Parts: sequence; structure tokens; C-alpha cells
Amino acid sequence: MNGAKQVFVAKGISRIYTMGDVKVHALRNVSFGIETGEYLAIMGPSGSGKSTLMHIMGCLDRPSSGSLYLKGEPIDSLSDAELAEIRNTEIGFVFQSFNLLPNMNILENVELPLLYGGVPAPERLARAKQVLKAVGLQDRLHHRPSEISGGQRQRAAIARALANRPSIVLADEPTGNLDTATGKEIMELFDELNLRGNTIILVTHEREVADHASRIIYIKDGQIEYIEKRVEV
Ligand SMILES: Nc1ncnc2c1ncn2[C@@H]1O[C@H](COP(=O)(O)OP(=O)(O)OP(=O)(O)O)[C@@H](O)[C@H]1O
Ligand SMILES: [Mg+2]
Repeated sequence: MNGAKQVFVAKGISRIYTMGDVKVHALRNVSFGIETGEYLAIMGPSGSGKSTLMHIMGCLDRPSSGSLYLKGEPIDSLSDAELAEIRNTEIGFVFQSFNLLPNMNILENVELPLLYGGVPAPERLARAKQVLKAVGLQDRLHHRPSEISGGQRQRAAIARALANRPSIVLADEPTGNLDTATGKEIMELFDELNLRGNTIILVTHEREVADHASRIIYIKDGQIEYIEKRVEV
């Protein structure tokens, strides 16, 4: 059943990247369901297909075959414009490489998704400042990404993902390259978001980070190796 209780349902999705004569099978016939409000971690070796899967769930990429359903709706039936609309309103994406724009300051970077989402200027400013305060960057608003630390860039990327108040947060290695203390702070932020009812899906190499989730999907060679349920749902 693809009821609205499930935020994502994947049915046999594959993703093949074609580079000249070479085909890379990044995902092979992957199927799963993710409940609304779930806290899910995805683990697996480098190159196993984790980011590819996150990009597909984030409506930034489409499977080569198979179907992904978002809240019961098959995303292959949606146009690129409709996918962009979903991205702007429902989903907050924290990229593995942050993707902050270098020529904009932190405040402008965080305001950007709100601009795309059509939020009026005064509210945009207020909301961007609010999320930046929540991640502890209220005194770095006018710094550019190159003028803050790696951990602060990560927090700015998280603020940007949260600015449009998405119900689904997708985070690709949100604590990668962070010191232990900053990583802990970031995880507290995700725990809090999940307690407020947001669906959290994160990729991590760290067992301690994955332990925050209620379920862990292990991916290997583009396939689900096994799923570990950590607490009774
Ligand atoms: N845009 C692309 N074009 C071609 N091949 C790609 C592309 N993106 C990823 N790949 C390949 O697809 C496979 C899966 O990549 P993916 O980025 O999903 O791995 P990952 O599990 O996120 O790895 P990591 O833990 O290192 O981030 C890899 O073999 C990678 O080289
Ligand atoms: Mg990756």
C-alpha cells in the first residue's frame, strides 16, 4: 500500500550513470518504505550508492528504472517544475559538499530557498535569521562561506535546508569532517527536529551517528544488504 503514512516508497529503483561506453550501476533494484516521521540512517561503503539514493529521494535526480513514490504519488508522473516545487516546499537537503554559494554571505545563502519558495522579503529575512540563530551562527550572518570554519559551513548548510520548514530533511554526511563536539550539536538539532515530527533521513559512516536513528539501511554495491531496526516503532 502506498498510503500517505509512508513518506517514501521505492519499488525496484535502479540508477545507471552512462559515461561514454561505461555504465555505472549505482543502484540496482532497490525497494523500501519510509514512514512519515521516521528517523532513518543509511550506511555503506564509499561508492555504494548512498548519495545517488539521496538525490533521487530529494527529487534532484530520477531513477533509470523502477518507481519512487512520495507521499503516495509516483514522482515519475511529475514534471520537472512540479519536482522543483516539491523540493522548495517539502524537502530540506543537506549536501555532502555543503553547496553554499561562495559569493553570497551566509544570510543570503540561507534566504535563497525562501526566495525560490516565494516568501516575501521581510519574512525571508526573519526566518533566515531565526534558523541561523538555531544553529548558533547569529554572529556570522555577513561572512562568506570561505570566511567561516568547516563546522560552521556545515551548520550554515543545515540552516539553509531548514529555512523553508520542510517536513522531510535529507542529510548526506551531516557530521562528516566535524569535530566530535560540533558533530554532537548537529545531531542534537536533528533529534529535536525528529521529535517535532519531521522525517529525518541521513547518510553516515559513523556508527554513533546512525545510533540516533530508529532504523538503519545498509547499502552495498547499489543494493540493500540488510535493514536493522533499532527500536520498536
Ligand atoms: N554523476 C555521476 N556520473 C557517473 N558516475 C557517478 C556519478 N555520481 C556517482 N557515480 C558513481 O556511482 C557510484 C555510487 O556513487 P555515490 O555517490 O552514490 O556513492 P556514495 O555511497 O554516496 O559514496 P561516498 O560514501 O563516497 O559518498 C560510484 O561508483 C560513483 O563513482
Ligand atoms: Mg556520498
